[in-house]
Amino acid sequence: MSTPQTATAPETQKGGDPSDLAASAKFAVSNRLQGKVAVITGSSSGIGQAIAVRLAGEGASVIVNYIGGAQRAEDTRAFIDKSGGKAFVVQGDVSKAADRDNLIDQAYLQFGRCDILVNNAGVEIGADFWDVTEEDYDKVLNINLKGAFFLSQAFVKRLIDAKQPGRIINISSVHEDMVFPHFDSYSASKGGLRMLMRNLAVELGPHDITVNNVAPGAIVTPINRSLLNNKEQLQALLNNIPLGRMGTSAEVAGLVAYLACEEAAYITGSTFIMDGGLMRNYHEQ
Ligand code: NAI
Repeated sequence: MSTPQTATAPETQKGGDPSDLAASAKFAVSNRLQGKVAVITGSSSGIGQAIAVRLAGEGASVIVNYIGGAQRAEDTRAFIDKSGGKAFVVQGDVSKAADRDNLIDQAYLQFGRCDILVNNAGVEIGADFWDVTEEDYDKVLNINLKGAFFLSQAFVKRLIDAKQPGRIINISSVHEDMVFPHFDSYSASKGGLRMLMRNLAVELGPHDITVNNVAPGAIVTPINRSLLNNKEQLQALLNNIPLGRMGTSAEVAGLVAYLACEEAAYITGSTFIMDGGLMRNYHEQ
């Protein structure tokens, strides 16, 4: 039986790599999200950071949320600011009710509204099933699923009161559908996110609130640090990806920007996979 391994990003990581941020800003379609306000959880690194930069590049004012590593959040805000966008940094743990409420409150306080919620924050903890502790299970489920559930609730309550439309975009994973042995709590959380999205699309449709999932395959971010450092494991994965490479945060951010914009108003209840073909060509790891 193996020892559980945490594959989450250490909060000591340096500020966002400017080349990653620039890649995410590069494809922005100007003003597509002008006047909109977006909250993106876990947006001081990886996919969330790229989404914050991209949505801001398309005109949205964004709440950059982080849990640890204030400098990276500040770097993200500074990059957006320098590019002519608007961002406000909010520290907060999505597994805590008061922090979740504060995230939505801050959007209204700083920018006067909140139109788009991107539930991106996530962690994974690997272990053989028989070694999974209740503590690790709670951590993964409380962040990945409960956090998204109740943050969406706080977001939606305000919209329904004000009779305003909105967009919820969850960053789930190919593992909302595809097996991921030894990451059972992670897979349970992402599978839960899949059904939550489908239910909410039906319940919130009459309120003009759309709900969709973006399901990335293997993306180069801190969450995959141990994989990226293991040449053999990485090559085995790349052999399973028809496009022969991992994806980038900027690519995921582009899809999120589309789902957030006016053109996507008729899309709800769907999962959008972005995995270089991995799901169509998967073999046991
Ligand atoms: P990441 O580790 O850079 O991003 C996760 C973010 O969530 C970090 O900024 C972290 O500080 C934040 N976070 C963790 N716990 C939090 C909490 N309690 N409250 C607020 N924020 C918290 O890794 P990545 O890859 O950017 O992950 C983003 C999302 O994408 C996650 O939901 C992950 O499951 C999902 N994903 C990533 C894939 C990949 O290959 N990188 C593939 C499929 C899904």
